[in-house]
Amino acid sequence: MFLLAAVLALSAQSVQYVAPAKTFVLQLEESTYALGVNDLNRVQHVYWGPRLQRPADFTPPRAAAAYAFESREGMTQEEYPAFGGMRYGEPALKASHSNGIRDIVLGYVSHEISGDTLKVRTKDITADLFVTLCYRVWPRRGILARWAEIENRTSQPVTVENAQSALWHLPDNTGYRLTYLAGRWAGETQLERELLGPGRKVMESRRGNTSHQANPWFALDEGDANEDRGRVWFGALAWSGNWKITVEQTTSRQLRVAGGMNDFDFAYPLAPGATLVTPEFHAGFTQRGFGDASRLLHRFVLTELAPDRRAPKPRPVLYNSWEATTFSVDEPGQKDLATKARALGVELFVMDDGWFGARDHDKAGLGDWFVNKKKFPNGLGGLIDHVHGLGMQFGLWVEPEMVNPDSDLYRAHPDWAIHLPGRPRTEQRNQLMLNMALPAVRDHIFKVLDDLLTQNKIDFIKWDMNRHISEPGLDRALYVNYVRNVYAIIDQLRAKHPKLEIESCSGGGGRADLETLKRVDQVWTSDNTEAFDRLRIQEGFSFAYPAKVMMDWVTDVPNMNGRSTPLKYRFLVAMQGSLGIGANLHHWKDADNKLAAEMIARYKTIRSTVQEGNLFRLASPSAGALTANQYVSADGRQSVLFAFLDHQQFRQNLSAIRLKGLDPLAVYKLTTIDDKLIPRQREFSGSWLMGRGLDFRLTGDYDSTMVILEKQ
Ligand code: GLA
Repeated sequence: MFLLAAVLALSAQSVQYVAPAKTFVLQLEESTYALGVNDLNRVQHVYWGPRLQRPADFTPPRAAAAYAFESREGMTQEEYPAFGGMRYGEPALKASHSNGIRDIVLGYVSHEISGDTLKVRTKDITADLFVTLCYRVWPRRGILARWAEIENRTSQPVTVENAQSALWHLPDNTGYRLTYLAGRWAGETQLERELLGPGRKVMESRRGNTSHQANPWFALDEGDANEDRGRVWFGALAWSGNWKITVEQTTSRQLRVAGGMNDFDFAYPLAPGATLVTPEFHAGFTQRGFGDASRLLHRFVLTELAPDRRAPKPRPVLYNSWEATTFSVDEPGQKDLATKARALGVELFVMDDGWFGARDHDKAGLGDWFVNKKKFPNGLGGLIDHVHGLGMQFGLWVEPEMVNPDSDLYRAHPDWAIHLPGRPRTEQRNQLMLNMALPAVRDHIFKVLDDLLTQNKIDFIKWDMNRHISEPGLDRALYVNYVRNVYAIIDQLRAKHPKLEIESCSGGGGRADLETLKRVDQVWTSDNTEAFDRLRIQEGFSFAYPAKVMMDWVTDVPNMNGRSTPLKYRFLVAMQGSLGIGANLHHWKDADNKLAAEMIARYKTIRSTVQEGNLFRLASPSAGALTANQYVSADGRQSVLFAFLDHQQFRQNLSAIRLKGLDPLAVYKLTTIDDKLIPRQREFSGSWLMGRGLDFRLTGDYDSTMVILEKQ
């Protein structure tokens, strides 16, 4: 009876203080995270793993023992170790007082529990520098977030040189394996995996935004996890500026993950009375492998972060003019494309770059966000009315953070561009970055965008960012304030124009992270729309982010790499996320239009399953010639299987594809779109589909198919 009561007591509250053990227990549906105050009055990590049920099991945490060359504090799993005392690991915090003192040792002061949030207040042992360690749990989602609030209560300024959001500890052990996302322009979110040895592995951006080169997400397993099984600790940082995640395996078998804003060139001035709040670092734990880790993050984004989280709306099928017309946009040409797009079933027409200022090429015009009268003599109204008249939404491309030196804005305000006085201003893609950290720039950009949205019936903007930072200005707070002001502008725009939808783009997938996903409805995954490459880019993306925000276009061939794949293959690849078309529709033949219309109509019948359902990665494009992904709707009634064969060799036939996530006892009715499914039968039990699997006749190069399953 007592045990049951204790279980209920612990499960009823997501955050609990177990007083005898001086321990805080964060309870999620299937995992537990715990921290406590140790015998040195330091906040110490206690546990992160499968759910623990009994508070009485916790004993007060004790700092580790010391020996000649390791201190007690250095060996202890401290929750938020500052650079101070005898600590050599990656610090969570480093700061200098104006008198040159830069030793910080944080002791527990107090705590506060409010609903799903825990705040543990700590203070330096001598100075009035306070650090509050913040925790929030989403028990049903299996996700918790950590961040820190650093408050200068001294009478002098403090320079914060490193302020991580969190330092995570895994159980002491060796043999951990790191999975992470690295890449480049046109090759974003490539899945990388490596066994860790002693030392530090750093994933980061120093480029002023999230970056194509690395994405702020990680997963760690014990070397044996797969899509379905194995213990996986994972996390995603919510920050779109310079960031850093350091995975450190100490020689004492400790595994630590520090993550937050990058300390590279970082020096944030904290005036007396001021507080620096770090970004949130979200994390979770599962015993059901990488597939479950991804699904937990997907569900979390869809239900807790996404702008439409309270009333989810399907993402519309989009057409974007970029690859068809590049900068050569004008009213008749765009109207023509819109009419053709509508005939295929497109729901949102987006005019890309080229509509404003002197934007006939990428050398001029950025910053001048007024309509180019040569291309649109009567403004945007004619095109927008045409698009709306066809029953589509209208979207527009903008790149608000940028300026071409050849622009009226730059001629008027050369000082608004990020620069170092007396140093060259590196131009990349012929453009400079505006210093969004300056209030005048922030207010100006808000006003031009607000005017644009007020004067035109624009339903959607594609917010682009086509270069990275250089010569980053004298004020080092820029790294933080730039990003905060971009967020603030988007927040203000959304508040004032509540129906507005936004796509985040940065030359493809350079700005995809959890903080961005609080503010945008979708992300442009990559400028690389070549379908075979896309399978890999989309696979990596799917480890961290849901299909609904993953924008995928069908474009023309030959495409990147000089590769040509069939239109059907291109459609099926793109239908695994939010579907768009970026092809030049003037070049499409009747047969292309017919296939496209059929595929778009088909997509509309499965899109809620793809966009809002659960993803099961059945066969990885990194592992072989077959790629297979399956989506199961949240209510389990519909499932969709996509399968792609890149190339057949040695006349090998495919092995059966075994499905996942179905009800073994239920019967499913199968709908095919072609003759690739070998069995003639069209009804199978879940147990057969998952146990025996389905045989397909996929042959040659770039073959593909899709099967829709409806639960009977
Ligand atoms: C970036 C985007 C593209 C397109 C161009 C326009 O490269 O990623 O989709 O919008 O800019 O200049």
